[in-house]
Amino acid sequence: MKQRESITRTITEEFYWFHRHPELSFEEFETTKRLRKALGAAGIRILDVPLNTGLIAEVGTGKAPFIGLRADIDALPVTEQTGLPYASESPGKMHACGHDFHLTSVLGAALYLKAHEEELPGTVRIVFQPGEEAPGGAVDVLHTGALKDVQALFGLHTSPLFPVGTVGVSEGAVTASVDKFVIRFRGKGTHAAHPERGIDPIVMASSFVVAAQSIISRNIDPGHRDLVSITRFTSGNTWNVIPETAEIEGTVRCLDNADRARIEKRMRDLADGQAKSFGGSAEIDWVAGPPATDNTPAWTEFARKTAEEQGISVEPAPTSLAGEDFAYYQTTIPGCFVLVGTGRSAANHNPEFQVNPAALGASAAYIAQLAMGAFAELS
Ligand code: NI
Repeated sequence: MKQRESITRTITEEFYWFHRHPELSFEEFETTKRLRKALGAAGIRILDVPLNTGLIAEVGTGKAPFIGLRADIDALPVTEQTGLPYASESPGKMHACGHDFHLTSVLGAALYLKAHEEELPGTVRIVFQPGEEAPGGAVDVLHTGALKDVQALFGLHTSPLFPVGTVGVSEGAVTASVDKFVIRFRGKGTHAAHPERGIDPIVMASSFVVAAQSIISRNIDPGHRDLVSITRFTSGNTWNVIPETAEIEGTVRCLDNADRARIEKRMRDLADGQAKSFGGSAEIDWVAGPPATDNTPAWTEFARKTAEEQGISVEPAPTSLAGEDFAYYQTTIPGCFVLVGTGRSAANHNPEFQVNPAALGASAAYIAQLAMGAFAELS
């Protein structure tokens, strides 16, 4: 009990420091330095891997079996408006998604694991991942090869929908795949008074915007949760000229990874077909982001059971069409991404978002227990 109090005190102080000093994706130099110091002071090994920011530590025998823990460490380009005594000291940067809470929870878990190192039958690889919001820091971590032999990986996210003392755990997808697209429609410019001499790209693109609304309603199982949002429509620069091009931009999100390819194909076919029907053409840039998260049934059940054993209330995780790059790990490593209740607040990414630091102690102990219990589960 004394150990838990002392770890909770340490990580609460660290949490205040990290909250005051947010750094954006792939610029987490001071954050990394501070983490190195805290881990080093506890005698925790840090792996030599090619990451500019972020780091991977390990506790245990140094041998198989391997279990993984992951925290993301980056902040957002948001100006904090919480009025907290430990608010961001960098205008325009804020830990508005609670990654400061994730990293201090996992730091606390590392301290617990270190205190019980001789009881570990294998190794826990502990990832402090840069650039989650970029997104794609997970891909850099995977490229280091440090997670190659990891048999189960756990990650957490703050949830302002749950009170302190509650976690949200569900199998399958809890966050969506995130793809981004830009489509350029090309027509032929002309005088507004002589539309017959040109090809109007605005009519062409407008027709596509309307047609694209049929993809979710007509091509996708009504029981699935996916979306197509068009968020920018740009064309022309004056009142009496029909322009040459129109450009639209937007995002496709899916909880079902199988729907993802189907939606992309329909988007391409519709853009092409609509453009051709007006005598023009369409060109698409498709940028694929992370897939949907995919919590393995067995590890999800284990995460639920472990929480209950620790006196933590368990609710189903609310699914969201937001993205999370933890999903990249889940394409090859089984495991579970859990939501940790951090008390009601404004939504993540909002300038008034805040977490209740009172959730830290139990969160760190829970994450540590996931790693320790996972070894028993493997054998
Ligand atoms: Ni986040």
